[in-house]
Amino acid sequence: MANKNLIEEINELKKKKNAVIVAHNYQIPEVQDIADFTGDSLELSKKCKGVKEKIIVFCGVKFMAETAKILSPEKKVLIPKENAGCQLADSIKPEEVDEYREKYPNAAVVGYVNTSAATKAKLDYCVTSANAVNIVKKIPNKEIIFLPDKNLGLWVQKNVKDKEIIIHNGRCYVHHKFTKEDVINARVAHPDAKIVVHPECLSEVTELADEVASTSGMIKYVKESSAKKFIIGTEEGHIHRLKKERPDAEFYSLGNAQICFNMKLIKLKDVYDSLLNEKYEIILPDDIITKAILPIERMLNLS
Ligand code: 13P
Ligand code: SF4
Repeated sequence: MANKNLIEEINELKKKKNAVIVAHNYQIPEVQDIADFTGDSLELSKKCKGVKEKIIVFCGVKFMAETAKILSPEKKVLIPKENAGCQLADSIKPEEVDEYREKYPNAAVVGYVNTSAATKAKLDYCVTSANAVNIVKKIPNKEIIFLPDKNLGLWVQKNVKDKEIIIHNGRCYVHHKFTKEDVINARVAHPDAKIVVHPECLSEVTELADEVASTSGMIKYVKESSAKKFIIGTEEGHIHRLKKERPDAEFYSLGNAQICFNMKLIKLKDVYDSLLNEKYEIILPDDIITKAILPIERMLNLS
């Protein structure tokens, strides 16, 4: 099927099945363009809470689709590729949260949204890259266990001085590849550009950037900036979205363009098949949903 026909078929099926398509900012351009809504993890979570449609087709990775299911358990949540995982989310197991709690009984356990539903069920608070600093500031405990991303944890520690943050040693292999040398070289090659990076990048990178932000924070920054050139330190798919928001500006990847292969698995044909066959449905045990909703709701209430 040619892309044009496929898009028409998807739109027809979407209406017939009473479905909504949401896509993360790292999805391939065709999938971003077919979506009813694109955003970062926090925006997508909020969006999925209030949707009126019966089916949510989630174009992203599994922990994001699980978050949508936790927030809208009465909806059918589909992910077009069953194997779209996140190595960072896989770097923490639920049992490890119990071990942290035993070791630090007075600490609040704060987990990045990039965690499985079973791990979320063990958290006190969930955060995203967009709100981690603000949420941790508002938590009454002095001691915080932050998991699983080390770089985001270090970013939080830098910005929240009056708390002790115990940080798990997870990392995103995509953001970990940006280096200090990439920033130094970019400054020389493009002295008139602003350098904007994700907080999952190494501290040596965030320290030298003009702005550190989640993918939605980056959109806000470039929309409000008078600069005409931006160097972006995050997964390369986000540049498609940024170009749409600022068609007059130039965008370059920091160093080599970095790709999250899991974010690139979903193609238009998979979205079509997903709608047609109502697959792959996210199924979570009731007790996990009941427990995992609590840290997410605490986040949504505080953010
Ligand atoms: P955002 O919350 O900024 O969209 O990031 C999600 C993610 O997976 C980053 O790698
Ligand atoms: Fe996970 Fe990194 Fe891919 Fe985001 S970019 S989904 S954190 S592996």
